[in-house]
Amino acid sequence: MRRPFVAGNWKMHNTLAEARALAKAVWNGLRGKNRVDVALCPPFTALTTVAEAIKESPVKLGGQNCYFEPKGAFTGEISAPMLADAGCACVIIGHSERRQVFGETGELLHKKVRAALQAGLDVIYCVGETLEEREAGRTEAVVARHLDEVLAGDIPPARLTIAYEPVWAIGTGRTATPEQAQEVHAFIRPRLAQVFGLDAAAAMRIQYGGSVKPNNAAGLMACPDIDGALVGGACLVAADFLAIIAAAADSVS
Ligand code: 13P
Repeated sequence: MRRPFVAGNWKMHNTLAEARALAKAVWNGLRGKNRVDVALCPPFTALTTVAEAIKESPVKLGGQNCYFEPKGAFTGEISAPMLADAGCACVIIGHSERRQVFGETGELLHKKVRAALQAGLDVIYCVGETLEEREAGRTEAVVARHLDEVLAGDIPPARLTIAYEPVWAIGTGRTATPEQAQEVHAFIRPRLAQVFGLDAAAAMRIQYGGSVKPNNAAGLMACPDIDGALVGGACLVAADFLAIIAAAADSVS
């Protein structure tokens, strides 16, 4: 049985005061409940504030991105060792907003994944197709390409989570149905098995992301290959994020 993993991607939201209040509210809501791994991924400016707010808790801190060089003249960038130093346990790599808005390529993401692992960070690696790609029947080809960009036997599988985030479902309120999501997750797992072997692939968590809300989380989390969520908008409201975590917990009870 895989332990669900729910991560909140705060994207470019929250002042320090808001970050502190949200992190504390999540931690307070989780006390005494430990059936789900939970991570908060605030913007860089709030990392240490959130680290402080959750320091006595099992909640993990994550970055939303990092550069692959450890240090140097890279104005505006943050390195993986810097994230680790700020208290991060994990980092999101390859989010579709990084691919689309910032032009990140597979070659770059390959380097970022290795740099993050090297720095001791676990990786949440995002894959997913656009609406145009889905409608052209290319969902599996796109997801396979995203996986192939970074997967190789040098990655410790236990430190990698895959997040399937169909681009058309992100921030649109149009979530994938449980059947649509499960279909892609069930495509991803055997591809992980090709690289890491059946047992390792069976133990890896594959999150779903894209308009996950309290009212649709239970249906998604009940799918056999959906092992948690990467949550955007709904993670900015503690009660909503906690409800999604509860749905993930219920899916394994
Ligand atoms: P929404 O939950 O706002 O659709 O965002 C999903 C996402 O991009 C998480 O990384």
